[in-house]
Amino acid sequence: MGKSANQYLKPLTTEINANGNLSVGGCDLVDLAKTYKTPLYIIDEFTLREVCKNYKDAFSKYEKINLMYASKALCTSAITTIIAGEGFGFDVVSGGELFTVYNSGVDMKRVLFNGNNKTYEELEMAINYGIGRISVDNFSELKLLNDIAKQKNKVADILLRITPGIECHTHEYIQTGHLDSKFGFDMSQIDEALILIKNKYKNLNLKGLHAHTGSQIFELKVYQDEVEILIKEILRIKAKYDIDISEINLGGGLGVKYTDSDNPPSVFDVSEIIINTIKNMCEKYNVDYPKIYLEPGRSIISTSGVTLYTVGSQKQVPNGKKYVAVDGGMADNPRPSLYQAEYVAQVANKPNERNYEKVTIAGRYCESGDILIKDIDLPKLEEGDVICVYNTGSYNYSMASNYNRTQKSAMVLVNSGLSDIIVNRETLDDLIRYDVIPSRLKEC
Ligand code: LLP
Repeated sequence: MGKSANQYLKPLTTEINANGNLSVGGCDLVDLAKTYKTPLYIIDEFTLREVCKNYKDAFSKYEKINLMYASKALCTSAITTIIAGEGFGFDVVSGGELFTVYNSGVDMKRVLFNGNNKTYEELEMAINYGIGRISVDNFSELKLLNDIAKQKNKVADILLRITPGIECHTHEYIQTGHLDSKFGFDMSQIDEALILIKNKYKNLNLKGLHAHTGSQIFELKVYQDEVEILIKEILRIKAKYDIDISEINLGGGLGVKYTDSDNPPSVFDVSEIIINTIKNMCEKYNVDYPKIYLEPGRSIISTSGVTLYTVGSQKQVPNGKKYVAVDGGMADNPRPSLYQAEYVAQVANKPNERNYEKVTIAGRYCESGDILIKDIDLPKLEEGDVICVYNTGSYNYSMASNYNRTQKSAMVLVNSGLSDIIVNRETLDDLIRYDVIPSRLKEC
């Protein structure tokens, strides 16, 4: 089986064009930087659709599959429209994501609400929208959701989020399925939750179990362990309480290739291990195949994204590093400062030059930790050069801030030589839009 799009470092349409510049989606990146200014997020529609197709192909042999996109990775109205068009449902974790997905005309039955502290208003909104599933995270939420559903005379279809106790080898901030996690019911608390649902919470209908072990996962074994734990749990619950649970949600987590040394498995490898493990377990225990939910985020959107920056000032530390500052940094991509994440970049206006020197790409924000890429070999940089950082589609814009009172960057969708703005650049007026000066201050 071939490679899937998450195994590439650059968008699949990346090339050097006739002008000798980098291009993505048939658009010259230097032109895009001029037209839309920098920092600029770019999403390559071809790569995004390709990875969606990879997921659909990979799981096509399993009938009861429900593919959902974890919209926390990147949630804008154009992105949700494309991904819904590819036949995906959505995992949302806030009223904001829920609203965005609803507003893009997505079938609400294909939406699942996750999160460890959903508010009353958010749960109410989910029920009003007729959401497909709510993954209940803890005892407080079981009660809250039951109360809301009862008031509305509805029954909410739920999954129980559990912590399966699987340690995946990723950054500790993005591990979620280990035992000491803030997410989900501990395995030892499942029985108490089941008894409450069965005897007390009549407005909740338990459909399945949900786990998510972590993010940027490279080990296939994690998926095998997860399937085995969830199916064994379903069997235990059936034997002990005669409750039928027909759905398992395996979360997201598949990794992407940020650097040459990253080697994530393909979507096809993941599907094979999941489907084979389910088949083996179900045949062994003579039970029906469960309905499977998957909610990948990063592996869907990451590779399609690049960010463009313009080179500004430079500083050579005597006998030390050479810093080259760009016009963005931790406010548009907090991942290097938050997780020591590594990225690869090229110079869009001279990708063929070989007069390399080792530089550190620094951001423009007032913080020493605002370094985008440490010690990268790039052609000698000059003011005005356009730097293209790869694999920024996930958890960049979605985690962006206005730190130092800067405006959030624009986002452009490229395809076959066309470029369209899908998120406008914020303006200075946007920055003060929600400021209020109490009138008594004006009187002094
Ligand atoms: N489902 C659940 C319940 C999750 O918590 C997550 C991610 C996903 C699905 C999607 O995981 P993915 O396929 O994207 O790995 N900000 C961090 C990543 C945090 C991920 C949180 N949960 C980063 O920039 O690496």
